[in-house]
Amino acid sequence: MSEQVTERSDMWSNSFIFVLAAAGSAVGLGNIWKFPYIAGENGGGAFVLVYLICIAIIGIPVMVSEIMLGKLGRASPIQALLNLSRKHNRSTKWSIVGYMGVLTGFLILSFYAVVAGWVCYYILRLFTGEFSGADAGSVGEAFNTFLSDPWQVLLWFSIFMVITIFFVARGVTRGLELCVRYSMPAVFVLLLILIGYGIHAGGFVESAVFLFNPDFSALTREGVLIALGHAFFTLSLGMGAIMAYGAYVPQDVSVGTTTFTIAILDTVLALLAGLAIFAIVFANSLAPDAGPGLLFVTVPVAFGNLPGGTFFGGLFFLLVALAALTSAISISEPAIAYFSERNKISRAKIAVVIGVVCWVLGVGSVLSFNVWADVKLAFFDWTFFDSLDKITQLVLLPLGGLLIALIVGHVLPKQVVFEELGLVSPQIQRAWWIIVGFITPLAVFCVFIIEALGEITAHM
Ligand code: PFF
Repeated sequence: MSEQVTERSDMWSNSFIFVLAAAGSAVGLGNIWKFPYIAGENGGGAFVLVYLICIAIIGIPVMVSEIMLGKLGRASPIQALLNLSRKHNRSTKWSIVGYMGVLTGFLILSFYAVVAGWVCYYILRLFTGEFSGADAGSVGEAFNTFLSDPWQVLLWFSIFMVITIFFVARGVTRGLELCVRYSMPAVFVLLLILIGYGIHAGGFVESAVFLFNPDFSALTREGVLIALGHAFFTLSLGMGAIMAYGAYVPQDVSVGTTTFTIAILDTVLALLAGLAIFAIVFANSLAPDAGPGLLFVTVPVAFGNLPGGTFFGGLFFLLVALAALTSAISISEPAIAYFSERNKISRAKIAVVIGVVCWVLGVGSVLSFNVWADVKLAFFDWTFFDSLDKITQLVLLPLGGLLIALIVGHVLPKQVVFEELGLVSPQIQRAWWIIVGFITPLAVFCVFIIEALGEITAHM
């Protein structure tokens, strides 16, 4: 069994390409589809504030930790953690974080690709001008009709899955780089156009107030856990995706600068998407808590009423699909890297097996919106889709992040960490250690405990 990743060891030829790839992983459906709808469901401002705090005190330290572990271990997350624990005479049980990440990746990719399939269908719908001049009611109905047809949803989910596996199998990094380099700024511009529509249509001020004026009475205990989980999801943390990418980072990359760049980019994009979408919501008297369909109702309404909207609307969904693709590729990376290290099977074959497993799981999510809409997980009232979404976001990713912080804070020798991060001043070393060893894990732990106690008392 090889201990080192060799197959793609030339992956990131410089730090800029690594930033692009990591940003490509971070920016995806989480920013444009998920953030607005969960902010809407959880009352807006106060939720956004908690989310931003989570990014700052939990997301950033965990991202630094993941990149660093990848760089130090130079292998798939599982193997990297095994390598590091052996090297420093620590328990190899810490590699369980890597195994958890592989499992989480399968679960996330299965439902992520279903939503990405919706996006693909909407590229076509907008380019054909189906929504030009449409009102919110008919656009909403069109979305529901689409979701109620399992074959349609299955078709688009399968298309996205095949495209993802094609790219994963080829291991193309050049395509990834090009995709992120041009599509990200383009998404940015189109979001600004949507915000322009919001200003013109009169919903912008309400949108800004909704997102940035915290009303703590609207924030629930579960909302805090959702904000925490989303901080992990949106930055691709807690399952080893960024760690796997970190394994190919050139030695001279500054982990700190890279992390800040990615976190800022990701957060700005999410906030812009939120501002744009709620401006459309308020301008058209829609409900901010409409759930997962929010993007698919608001954006077509706006482009349907803008000059050139047929083209720009189609382009918008195309760019969102590309953003989803670069994220989906990274979701599979911990598993791909691990299985290609262990077996002499080609990357392509492993990619196909992963694709088939995710596809089978994904069928459950496809059916959650139609045939199985009433099949719910007892006690929680979650559909199959909800269950995968919640279990990964609310439990597996934060737990993975908590363990990663503990590994960096308490398992690895401090000196190794300080050296790798280039921390020389004793004050900075101490500050970093307090953050990653105590503040980050305790914050995650407290949110878990408060939520668990709340659930228990609520059901007593
Ligand atoms: N960060 C991605 C998004 O916001 O869409 C989703 C994601 C990618 C989650 C990679 C987890 C992951 F490992």
